[in-house]
Amino acid sequence: MTDLDRIPVHVGIVMDGNGRWARARGLPRLSGHNAGMLAMKEIVKKASALGVRYLTVYAFSTENWKRGAEEVSGIFNLLIVYVDRELAELNANNVRVRILGEYGRLPANAVERLNRSLRTTADNSGMQFNIALNYGSRDEIARGLRAIAADVLAGRLAVSELDEALIADRLYTAGMPDPDLIIRTGGERRLSNFLLWQSAYSEFVFSDVYWPDFSAREFEKAIEEYQGRERRFGGRRQNGR
Ligand code: IPE
Ligand code: IPE
Ligand code: MG
Repeated sequence: MTDLDRIPVHVGIVMDGNGRWARARGLPRLSGHNAGMLAMKEIVKKASALGVRYLTVYAFSTENWKRGAEEVSGIFNLLIVYVDRELAELNANNVRVRILGEYGRLPANAVERLNRSLRTTADNSGMQFNIALNYGSRDEIARGLRAIAADVLAGRLAVSELDEALIADRLYTAGMPDPDLIIRTGGERRLSNFLLWQSAYSEFVFSDVYWPDFSAREFEKAIEEYQGRERRFGGRRQNGR
């Protein structure tokens, strides 16, 4: 049973396995991405209902441009459909949408729809739903360091002031708690450039289920696995010597 008093505050998800899900069914990859959007919709609802405060999903990485133009534009179009269809419900559920990543480089119609979803939900006080889009952790850190270097050169910041908190402040996740739990579906056991800095003490749960099949119950199971872990942050065991 999921312990509702110990729900992770911030959950990150690497939503992987759409392509293999489609292939296993003899369908085109985009059908997998479409099914993945439907899974995402269900998990957003479930996470919000369980009381997760921040949900960060990895939707498109800085490396995913390597895929053919057709797949890339197909993914962005599905995202537009998702935002258009779900915005009212996200709003009704008091969810605040944020984007992590350089989404300004997406096609103009996608940027416009995303901006609308940000504006419409900006004042909501429920779960924050972060969509990592054209996101790469190394790119994020490099951007942050460029901004810091510019501040140093302009005399706004002394080198001696540069510490962990200041770096964290220059990331897309500024002001958010680090993820307690990171889930990766689809069977691979790697981060693929997701939240490298922020995941220093995250718990990892890997699921072999392809993302389109990742149900609300699978999400609960991942949280239950997390709840069985003992987090030490470098300290001693709770009851050990
Ligand atoms: C994850 O599914 C979605 C994105 C990376 C956009 P994949 O498309 O990577 O699915 P697999 O890994 O090929 O099965
Ligand atoms: C990670 O999945 C990125 C997203 C889920 C958006 P990938 O499918 O791109 O990762 P690799 O290539 O297997 O490492
Ligand atoms: Mg993949």
